[in-house]
Order: sequence, then C-alpha cells, then structure tokens
Amino acid sequence: MFPFKNNITLDRKSNRNLYLQLCDQIIGFIKSGKLGPSTKLPGSRKLSEDLNIHRKTVISAYEELISQGWIETFPAKGTFITSTLPVVKPTDFDNNNRIKNQKQQSGFSFKSRPDLNPDLNNYSNEQLLKVNDGSPDYRLAPIEEITRVYRNIIKKAHHKKLLTYGSAYGNPELRKALVAYLNQTRGLNVSEENILITRGSQMGIYLAGQLLLSSGKRIVVGNTNYMTADNTFKDAGGIIERIPVDQNGINTIALEKLCTSKKIEAVYVTSHHHHPTTVTLSAERRMHLLQLAQQQRFAIIEDDYDYDFHYSNAPILPLASNDYKGNVVYIGGFTKIIAPAIRIGYLVAPKDFIEEATKLRKIIDRQGDSLLEQTLARMITTGDIQRHCQKVLKMYKARRDLFCLLLKEKFDNYFDFEIPKGGMAVWVRLNNKYNWDDLVAESKKLNLELNPEWRRYDNVNSGHNSIRLGFASLNEEEIQLVIQRLEIAFKNIS
Ligand SMILES: Cc1ncc(COP(=O)(O)O)c(C=O)c1O
Repeated sequence: MFPFKNNITLDRKSNRNLYLQLCDQIIGFIKSGKLGPSTKLPGSRKLSEDLNIHRKTVISAYEELISQGWIETFPAKGTFITSTLPVVKPTDFDNNNRIKNQKQQSGFSFKSRPDLNPDLNNYSNEQLLKVNDGSPDYRLAPIEEITRVYRNIIKKAHHKKLLTYGSAYGNPELRKALVAYLNQTRGLNVSEENILITRGSQMGIYLAGQLLLSSGKRIVVGNTNYMTADNTFKDAGGIIERIPVDQNGINTIALEKLCTSKKIEAVYVTSHHHHPTTVTLSAERRMHLLQLAQQQRFAIIEDDYDYDFHYSNAPILPLASNDYKGNVVYIGGFTKIIAPAIRIGYLVAPKDFIEEATKLRKIIDRQGDSLLEQTLARMITTGDIQRHCQKVLKMYKARRDLFCLLLKEKFDNYFDFEIPKGGMAVWVRLNNKYNWDDLVAESKKLNLELNPEWRRYDNVNSGHNSIRLGFASLNEEEIQLVIQRLEIAFKNIS
C-alpha cells in the first residue's frame, strides 16, 4: 500500500486547516499519478494513528474529497480513489512531497518574440546609483495629496458606484476636466467625445498602431526613434520607414520625397522633444508636416510624452493645436508629471477614431482605474496638478543646469552634447575613441548604472555613439556623485 505515513507532512503552524492540508496532498498524489483510480485508501482510524492526528480530521478530509469527487466510499468495502478518474502517468516529487516545479517550461507552443526588449523588470541592485533614460523623480510625487483626495472620494456613499464597471472611454469627470485642461494648456479645441483615457501613453501608441497599421502598411519614424514605439508598430504588422533627424527634428523634405514613391499611413513624431535626441520640431517643419498629412491623408501620431517639461521658454504648442482637418492622433499622460506608476494617459483624436480605439481598448483592458481617474479629475480642477507641475519644472531645470554644467566642465574631451531645451535627459555623444560598453562596465564596478537601455539607440546602426543620460530623477547630491564616479570610470578606461 502507498506509504501515506512517510509521504504526508502536515504543518500545525500553517493557517490552512489540517484536514484541508490532508486533502491537498491526497489530491496531489492523484493528480501526479501516485494514487491511481480505484486505489484503496487506509481507514480513518489507521490513517489518524499513522499521521498522529485526530480521527475526525481524517473523516473531514475524506468527506471533503468525496464531495469534490476525488474519492468514493462503499459500505463494508472501504474508501477508494474514484474509479472513473483518468489514469495519470507518475510524476516526480521533490523532498517535501510536492510535485516537482514544472512551471519552467510550457507544455504547449506559443509565439516567441526575440525582437521585443527582454528587460522586463527594473529591480536591479538598490545600492546602485542609477542614471536612467529620462524618468521623473518619483520621490517628488504629491502622494499625500493624491491619497487625501482619493480617500475623500471613496468616503462619499454616492461614489461607491465607481467600484463597478464603468465607461470604457474612461471616467467621465476626468474626460471633462481634460477638455478644459488640454484646451487651455495645449491650445487644443476638443470636447469629451475626442478623448479616451488610457493607461499611460504606451497604451495610446499601441491603440493607434493597431488601428492605423496592418500587414505591409507603412509608418514613418525618425532615425533614430523611441524603440518601444518601433516595436509596437511592427507588432501591428507595419513596415517602418525612417527619415533623418537633425537639430530641427524629423526632416519633412525627406518625408515629402518618400510620399512620392510609397503610400504612407502614419508618421510617428515626438515633436516637443524628439526621442531620443531631445530636439524640438521647428515651426516650419510642423506646418509642412501638417500640410503633407492633409494632402496625402496620413495620420500623425503625436506622442507628447513630456510636454510639461520645457525650460528655455513656454512649451511649444503641439501639432494637434493646429490640426483643422482631423489628421492628428495626440497622445499624452500623467506618468511623467506625477510618477510612472500612476498609469493614466489620454488619446485625443477625431470622434470616429476614438470610438474604434475604445472598442479595441475594451478587449485588452475592460476599463481604467475609475477611482484614480476621478482623483486626478479633482486635482486638475483644483489646480493641484498644475501647481505640482510648476514645482517640479523648477527643480528639473536646476538639475539640468547642474548636470550639464558638470558634464561640460569635467568631460569636455569625452562627451559632446547640446543642453536640452526640455525633457528629462541629455543626448550625449561619446568621443569615438571610447565605447559605451567599456564605460558602462567600468561604471558598474563603481556602483554607477548608466542607462541600461542605451543599446536600443543603436537599433538602426546609425553609428552615432550616443546615449540618453537622464538627470531629472537625480537630486543635486546624486548628480555630484554621478560625476565623481564617471571621472574615475573615464580614468580607468583611458
Ligand atoms: C517617447 C515616449 N513615449 C511614451 C512613453 C511611455 O510613457 P507611459 O509611461 O506614459 O506609458 C515613454 C516612456 O518613457 C517615452 O519615452
């Protein structure tokens, strides 16, 4: 007979009831093939003695297993594994009598995507001083205000309804607040039906890509471009066409030329601060791009991910503010203003496009976080968000100034860069005598992590030898430390 005594281990300190632990293990033996159909189980008295537990515990376990259909009992004969259960091939067990972890490899085939970025979590060594790709400083997020407003909302009985399924377009109050906010701050001329609330800008990029592209359809991006957007468009079946980027942004003359030989469905542009090089699309090219979009009937996906952070003058109004023929799909959000984990963004476009995007959004993610969206709506209406924005803008400007000053002072022979007019990172060209591999490796030895995503900018082999060094998430002390460690790293590789 199966040696229950040696194979069952019950933990009296566990929160799980003893009789349920016994059930779990017997079910495990059945599922793994250790106990086949019609196998006789020991009587409750014998098993309770073997396991040193109360007989009632065994009886409760057997009753539970009978009710679930795993075992059956016959008067005067005994208790058996249900005869009609399928026969299972025996499986390996680990030392604790649990089925060996078999969740490493799937027992089915599925798509593998080597083209997508394999870096899926950012939880590297917390001791590292990190220079990222240009993220906000999450430590500055107005989390107390958010919590206060959130708590006030949920306290009101009539707001409990926010806990049920709501509109796939997003929280109505946030859409309403965004109409006023976007029309005032960005010069848009939109109403609620032009707005879909998304989870961050990335969802907007995904939805736009899926609706505009399909197998063989072409999208134009800058060379080089934000790689996640490239991947998103490829995933939609699109063919990526690249046009040069200079100090005035994407070259629209090259785009015009391209349009004479190929049908273009869309152009993706980070007009305010081109990702990755941080340059602003000039007024002349903005007008030209809009004109081309109208003539050729393509869409402009305007990813305005860091509209709020422009230091040299007032932010430049987006292309969407001059879009009178419905060519622009405008994408933005609060992940950069507040913190990346506050995943609220928006897609602004003509009504027919928003309707399709919302249908699509509904099958990926039924709806957004209604309570957080309502909280943000309140904070926009009271001006809390705008005040927070002003506060961090000043701080990021000071950080940019210090970072660039020190880069220039200490690394003039190594780095070449323009002071970015906005955004959260500097696009730094490394003197061709050196390579990033060496500098990144040497910095790591000094507990300094240089933008781990840097390789992605070489995806088109542009040979620019540049990466983005984010300054916004570092306070002044941290900036000084980064510079000190970089100095040592350079000494060591020179
Ligand atoms: C150019 C660009 N667009 C979109 C995003 C995605 O932003 P979100 O976190 O709002 O999805 C990022 C994030 O870094 C970005 O750099």
